[in-house]
Amino acid sequence: MSVGARLAGVRFSVPSKILTNADLEKMVDTTDDWIRTRTGIERRHVLSEGESATDIGMAAAQQLFSDGKIDKSSIDALIVATATPEMLFPSTACILTHKLGLNGVPAFDFSAACSGFLYGLSIAKSYIESGTFRSILLVCVEALSRIVDWKDRNTCVLFGDGAGAAVITATEDDRRIRSILIGADGQYQEYLYVPLGGTIAMSGRDVFQVACRKMTEAATQALADAHLTIDDIDLVIPHQANTRIILQVAKQLRIPEDKLFVNIQSYGNTSAASIPIAYREAELAGRVKPGANLLFVAFGGGFTWGSAVLKV
Ligand code: COA
Repeated sequence: MSVGARLAGVRFSVPSKILTNADLEKMVDTTDDWIRTRTGIERRHVLSEGESATDIGMAAAQQLFSDGKIDKSSIDALIVATATPEMLFPSTACILTHKLGLNGVPAFDFSAACSGFLYGLSIAKSYIESGTFRSILLVCVEALSRIVDWKDRNTCVLFGDGAGAAVITATEDDRRIRSILIGADGQYQEYLYVPLGGTIAMSGRDVFQVACRKMTEAATQALADAHLTIDDIDLVIPHQANTRIILQVAKQLRIPEDKLFVNIQSYGNTSAASIPIAYREAELAGRVKPGANLLFVAFGGGFTWGSAVLKV
């Protein structure tokens, strides 16, 4: 078989501070019932003062190394998906090379909002299949609490902070990314954006509609590219933005409920970190068996989207 890219390990980290819907009731004109029924979210983790996005990114990545899952010296490149870098430069990726003891490996950030994990997988796959690198560390880290307007009930109830770290390695067997696609369309930029130095602005209903359509289209294409149908898929791990979006996409793709992984209730929307967090929780829950076929699908500001089919 030709060289392929395998998702070799995923870990995550979230800040210890939890903000519940009851906490939000004291901050804005909202209710636990409204948030649960409209979004599925019950609580989210947020960074404390003095804690940084790099801290949780590092904690996620370090678990991969300390678990003995991945040999740190094998990492050839570090890429970071984030919409919330701490500085314009150096990149969060550069800062992490030093904190993780990976000095010298190439490192860069990219921005694809909530589709960051899919974009990162696509970049890693291309590097590996071209023979450029054999092992890539992808860190998806978001400090959305730092760019949320905590007085805006339309947005502040939706988001949370978190980090996911994944290692993608070269493989010669069939446990690999079978298909992946990414896309973007800037015509929708005014529906969801953050101006430099500003806070999240969103037209929720518009985002909802385009998200459902694009996620369904992307997943359909990824399945076709992998020459599989939804019946061949063991577990679908969608970006966790809103339970109603997930259920709508699942209905359109005819995904049975027992093949769908949802953990938005505990984390809210953690943007690029959401799929790696969900993946690891699914794995810990025994729902990702070796050799299983998975479907990932994501959507985010830009708009951006992506979907992948992989055998793990
Ligand atoms: N608590 C109580 N009421 C709220 C509220 C809150 N936190 N947020 C909004 N409302 C109000 C609105 O002001 C509106 O009131 P009005 O009718 O008096 O104007 C009412 O609830 C209904 O608002 P609407 O926007 O129609 O609700 P919705 O059913 O579309 O749900 C979202 C709103 C944001 C949950 C939903 O549109 C959504 O999830 N969109 C996608 C957002 C997203 O996922 N973004 C990230 C993509 S990666």
